[in-house]
Amino acid sequence: MPDAVYVRDAFARIADRYVLTNHVLSGGADIWWRKVVTARIRKWKPKRLLDVASGTGDLALEIQDQCPACEVIATDFCAEMLAHAASRGMAKTLVADALSLPFPDRSFDVVTVAFGLRNMADYPAALREMHRVLKPGGRLLILDFALPDGILRTPYRLYLHHVLPRLAGFVTGQRDAYEYLGGSIEAFPSGPGMMRLMESCGFSETDATPLTFGVVSIYEGTRAQN
Ligand SMILES: C[S@@+](CC[C@H](N)C(=O)[O-])C[C@H]1O[C@@H](n2cnc3c(N)ncnc32)[C@H](O)[C@@H]1O
Repeated sequence: MPDAVYVRDAFARIADRYVLTNHVLSGGADIWWRKVVTARIRKWKPKRLLDVASGTGDLALEIQDQCPACEVIATDFCAEMLAHAASRGMAKTLVADALSLPFPDRSFDVVTVAFGLRNMADYPAALREMHRVLKPGGRLLILDFALPDGILRTPYRLYLHHVLPRLAGFVTGQRDAYEYLGGSIEAFPSGPGMMRLMESCGFSETDATPLTFGVVSIYEGTRAQN
């Protein structure tokens, strides 16, 4: 699993170019992925939501905009990334490590994490921490990359390991941070593997929805009513 010191430093180095690079590398699809996630959350009408590993705030800002009755708190352990979230209009931000969240048990109706869990040093510990701060019946929603199945898998891996680092290196000047990206996607559980991991950390009613030919997936899980 990823090394926390390397990860924090890598995101600090790309923070100023992170939003632009995402849009370039995904062809703008990342905007749509976050809108799909937000549309789901809106239907749940949460009162209090924690966005973990918020980075520059792309998901948290969309939720804050679309769910005005909800208190949305954006957290990240990289102050440089979170500073962009605040300057882009995120009302509540807090520098915090997802593996040790500074919130009491059973505090939130919903916890979200977009493209963040994959970067954490201990996936089960992070999931158990998200479970701890959720209220009984509360929901976790994860958005993250996956490898597509079938004929797209090989060309996508070529893109991931050879094209994407060069393109991102050109935009950010930090090619190594994007060489890390491909490896992190390869190592990250997806589909049924991710649902099993969530269940082993206490979540029930797990579900996976692949988007954009399986390049990303949305995962949901619920904290039991106890
Ligand atoms: C790829 S960015 C995702 C940012 C944002 N959620 C988005 O959708 O664009 C990953 C973020 O995870 C954060 N991160 C990684 N490990 C973390 C941890 N243990 N605690 C808090 N944040 C973490 C990084 O600092 C980085 O900002």
